[in-house]
Amino acid sequence: MCGIVGYIGERDCTEVLLDALSKLEYRGYDSAGIAVFEDGEITVEKSKGELKNLRDKIDKNHKPDGHCGIGHTRWATHGEPSDINSHPHGSRRVSIVHNGIIENYKDIKKFLAGKGYTFVSETDTETVAKLLDYYYQGDPIEAIIKTLNDIRGAYALGILFKDYPDCIFAVRKDSPLIIGAGKQENFIASDVPAILKYTRDYYLLEENEIATIKSDKIEFCDIHRQKIEKQVQVSNLDMDSAEKGGYEHFMLKEIHEQPTAVRTTIAPRIVGGMPDLSECGLTLEDLKKYRKFFIVACGTAMHAGMVGKYVIEKLARTEVTVDIASEFRYRDPIVTPNDLVIVISQSGETADTKAALHLAHKKGAKVLSIVNVKGSSIARESDMVIYTHAGPEISVASTKAFSVQMSVMYLLAFEMAYAKGHINKAECMRLTAELAKIPDMIDKTMECEQKCKYVASKLITAQSLLYIGRGLDYALSMEGSLKLKEISYIHSESYAAGELKHGTISLVDDGMPVIGVATQSELIEKTVSNIVEVKSRGAFTITVCKEGTEFSEDVMDEVIELPVLEDVLMPMLTVIPLQFIAYYTAVLKGLNVDKPRNLAKSVTVE
Ligand code: M6R
Repeated sequence: MCGIVGYIGERDCTEVLLDALSKLEYRGYDSAGIAVFEDGEITVEKSKGELKNLRDKIDKNHKPDGHCGIGHTRWATHGEPSDINSHPHGSRRVSIVHNGIIENYKDIKKFLAGKGYTFVSETDTETVAKLLDYYYQGDPIEAIIKTLNDIRGAYALGILFKDYPDCIFAVRKDSPLIIGAGKQENFIASDVPAILKYTRDYYLLEENEIATIKSDKIEFCDIHRQKIEKQVQVSNLDMDSAEKGGYEHFMLKEIHEQPTAVRTTIAPRIVGGMPDLSECGLTLEDLKKYRKFFIVACGTAMHAGMVGKYVIEKLARTEVTVDIASEFRYRDPIVTPNDLVIVISQSGETADTKAALHLAHKKGAKVLSIVNVKGSSIARESDMVIYTHAGPEISVASTKAFSVQMSVMYLLAFEMAYAKGHINKAECMRLTAELAKIPDMIDKTMECEQKCKYVASKLITAQSLLYIGRGLDYALSMEGSLKLKEISYIHSESYAAGELKHGTISLVDDGMPVIGVATQSELIEKTVSNIVEVKSRGAFTITVCKEGTEFSEDVMDEVIELPVLEDVLMPMLTVIPLQFIAYYTAVLKGLNVDKPRNLAKSVTVE
């Protein structure tokens, strides 16, 4: 998703903006640009493609020389990726960068066209810039307030007014923005990593708060011009963890960080051998009183929710509905004030998940969120939050966030099963102790890396793949398939193994790779018989199973064995080879693993 930065201070502004933008590359983008005050004028440079293209253009043509400016990485929504559609946009008097979507931009454009304004880009952003220009009569705050009254949608805006060369203005609604506070220099950014090199102190801009940023002063007001005092936040983000730490890609680093991420997430939530999620205000009594549980999320987070459903239903004998957030928000779900809606999100900014949260609130339900990014919108808007402690996840493909999300699902399931009397204290403690062993078991599972790399070498020429499994293995098949397709661009489908013969098996022909996930003892015979079915139709079979699982060897082309845990916990290990297979397939194909095409890390638009 788009990234915003801004700088005011003594440093070379162009250099700071380019550097800060590079720290936001992980969000995904297709063009970049900057606007810098230079001798009282606003100089704009922008370029389609990678940040490197912008740098080359600046080096070749002209490097803006100034100390105050804004920058942007754009992920196209309105209008194709191009130099013209790149931000900043503006007039001679105003320049802006924008994240989000302005829903009523067509009406505004029509209105402004009637007033004689012309437009050069296809973007919604340009209409906001021109509207600011229209309302500007010497008072920037007044122009901003009038503009906010007219626009509908989601936005984070960084704004320069030509008449105020010592100021950046910022405002946001439904898109994140922080204000970095340095010594005689200040910043704006979509996310903390952008400013970490310069300062750890920052302010969280809240909905419709307007910030006026000078090099020695930051002021906040609301849309009635009432002054707001804000508390400075101090980031404890580790610079090293925002870098690759010796790994070739963030994704590989993040796969290897899983033992630590899971340990850090579960350790503080195990008290006296029992799961304890009371930090978020969730009591055992609460867990008993809810009528129904909904889990709502997108992509990988939704797969963690599927694992949660299986485990909660199995152990706590309580009905759980799992929804894709973009479906939930429009299907008028039967949610009541007696239900708990659990939303899962790494970024805490996913637009559909956020809309699902709003809908749950509208229907009177309480919302518990499981979120990785502190202070994110979803975390702030929920009634209860359980933070996962994965650290920053930079690679677009989510890996460690999935593991920590699952680990919280387990704690919740154990606590719920105990609260509802389906397991006794001894059993709850036993399961919790097993969960506590998982970080070490994940470490051990990492030994399959080379084998997975070998398996990946067999997949790189495939046109299409199938992932099959049953029960929890089906949920993991979905995650394995998503991971592979998003970074290797090889088509794959995940299928409930028993459903194959109802249509999909006709796809199987000579050499088609089929990855069978078979870790669940009660279902293993069934899944194996499905693997035999595809093998006998020519498939190249790769089976992921527990160490020591016995098969008639001739039906398995490749077997990846995992350390043995009880069935219900196996997803925590099963995901590791699936991540490695996806990762090495993309690497062997020479693809941009951390930033796959068409994708963004944080999907803040619908
Ligand atoms: O930040 P979120 O967890 O809300 O993101 C949800 C999905 O966009 C995300 O998991 C996506 O599916 C990943 N790229 C998958 O690797």
